[in-house]
Amino acid sequence: MEKRDVTTDQPGQLARRGHPEAWHEQYADLNHFLMVYKFGLAEMNTKITILAEELTHRGSGNPIEHISPRLKTPASITAKAHRLNCPLHFDDLRARIRDIAGIRIVCSFVSDVYTVANMLTRQPDVNLVVTKDYIAKPKANGYRSLHLIVEIPVFMSDRVVAVPVEVQLRTVAMDFWASLEHKIYYKHDPDVVPPRLRDELTAAAEDAARLDLRMERLHREIHGPRR
Ligand code: GTP
Ligand code: MG
Repeated sequence: MEKRDVTTDQPGQLARRGHPEAWHEQYADLNHFLMVYKFGLAEMNTKITILAEELTHRGSGNPIEHISPRLKTPASITAKAHRLNCPLHFDDLRARIRDIAGIRIVCSFVSDVYTVANMLTRQPDVNLVVTKDYIAKPKANGYRSLHLIVEIPVFMSDRVVAVPVEVQLRTVAMDFWASLEHKIYYKHDPDVVPPRLRDELTAAAEDAARLDLRMERLHREIHGPRR
């Protein structure tokens, strides 16, 4: 198939040059490219919802607080491609951008993060491709989460596509920190945030980690270990 550049062939420009049909074609291509990711995301979402509901019925409670799936927008795919120096062709985007489909699982306690990750990755149709354990080894700024890239088969009419999905698992405390850090820090030019404030954000991540340990201990003391 002919390689198409999804941004230099700007749909808007083509339309303005008087080719509204080309504009349509471009959007159809992009929607077709994103379609398998949408299905892969739906498959993962179903798997996690099944776990969450099933575990509600088990004696020691549901380890999943909430789940948020998201599909990367075309603008954010383009921005990441620029960051990675990745050509704007579907084949290259598919190979280089592995978080087009993403799902975040927020768990109650740190041990739940690993329990849920294991429950998912041991399913025979879930292929674990990459694990980045930022809980065992937090980022320099204090960011903690367990990141997995998994591939999940999506059955189309004439083929099976292994769709990559980025799964981020974290505790409520890690999620609280990451969400607010994103607001406080990411909105600003990194060089504009003074080192003292950056250090304080990192210290806050450590406070959150201590709180995680404490809450898990309290839960264990009251309810015993999760079965
Ligand atoms: P991206 O290009 O951002 O996707 O990063 P990456 O491909 O190097 O992967 P990484 O595992 O480092 O991070 C993936 C995602 O984790 C990001 O898109 C964020 O959602 C989240 N993340 C990673 N680092 C941080 C951080 O320092 N703060 C916050 N708030 N989120 C982070
Ligand atoms: Mg990302």
